[in-house]
Amino acid sequence: MDRRGFVTSGMAAGLASITGGGTALGTLLDRALGPSAGRRDQEALIRLSSNENPLGVAPAAREAIIEAIVDANRYGGRHDEVVEALARHLGVGTDNLTLGFGSTEILQICTQAFQGPNTPLIIAEPTFEDVMGYQDTMPFEVHTVPLTADWQHDVHRMREISMERPSVVYFCNPNNPTGTITDSADIDAWIAGAPETTTFVMDEAYVEYVTDDRYWDSLRWIDEKPNVVVVRTFSKIYGMAGLRLGFAVSHPTTADRLREHTINNGPNMLAAAAALASLEDDGIVARSIAVNEEAKAIVHATLDELGLEYLPTNTNFIMHRINGDLETYRERMAERGLRVGRDFPPMLDHNRLSFGLPNEMDQWASAIRDFRTRGWI
Ligand SMILES: Cc1ncc(COP(=O)(O)O)c(C=O)c1O
Repeated sequence: MDRRGFVTSGMAAGLASITGGGTALGTLLDRALGPSAGRRDQEALIRLSSNENPLGVAPAAREAIIEAIVDANRYGGRHDEVVEALARHLGVGTDNLTLGFGSTEILQICTQAFQGPNTPLIIAEPTFEDVMGYQDTMPFEVHTVPLTADWQHDVHRMREISMERPSVVYFCNPNNPTGTITDSADIDAWIAGAPETTTFVMDEAYVEYVTDDRYWDSLRWIDEKPNVVVVRTFSKIYGMAGLRLGFAVSHPTTADRLREHTINNGPNMLAAAAALASLEDDGIVARSIAVNEEAKAIVHATLDELGLEYLPTNTNFIMHRINGDLETYRERMAERGLRVGRDFPPMLDHNRLSFGLPNEMDQWASAIRDFRTRGWI
């Protein structure tokens, strides 16, 4: 019997003896190990709105989660194992790593560690807004800098502002919600010459999806520059958004500082099991990229056919024009069973569309084509 068969039958038998519900449990296990295709949100809409991975958690990770449930009544203890596996995977030291409850926790920790009343945040607009949200509990100034005409961070303007005093610079690269990249050479030139009092928070949530060779990641800086923190996640390419595991890669002294803010007994044991299995790579990365490229091709062809402009994407989503009112567009898509992205001011003439499975994108394509015949877009 193969491993999956063993897990399925062995776990089902064991758990069935506890719950007395063999058939229902067998169905649950089949679903847990089966494809995620067609997974809907609470209103039964196909989710093309939150930049999730439509393939779901990797099969090897699902097995690992089921196996780990047996120990889920115990406190964790797999922290070091995850850190060691990640260090090997990234080619960094274990002392460079800090784990968080998603990269969201890492972003919150960066705010706690670096931000303050006299240390402003310098951030693009539009970008991932999360870090700005922490102003409610810890007041700090925010300088928003519009993206350039070609949808890059305005490195020149951000740098000018940073010269005034110590500050935190948030780079979302590739950027959410635009999906675009900022030229890494420009960012590197700034980092190389920046004082240690300028902290760079480099959010690389979508790094694995990048195809543009003007982009490279920021890991090269972590040995040399304690003021650079690279933020990554298992939510996107590994399809683990609901399991909540992210991490920071930084200089060891900075990692010590970040870890002062983390909670004890992390990470969640099931997330740890899934991450360890995913890093062993059962092909989840390659499959995620391949399905994303397939979805992207369908969307590009459809938007080209309809003459709707879109931004070049290096992520698992795309920003495209809709020629009409955004809220009405969303409502009409929902009537067709599709949940598409929310408002991202000031880009209210665009919709952010997350890539799903190819058949889901076909559904989106036929809906938007129909909108054209009705004169709605
Ligand atoms: C740029 C960026 N950073 C961070 C996150 C948060 O991801 P998580 O907390 O799931 O790791 C997201 C989620 O969409 C994102 O788009």
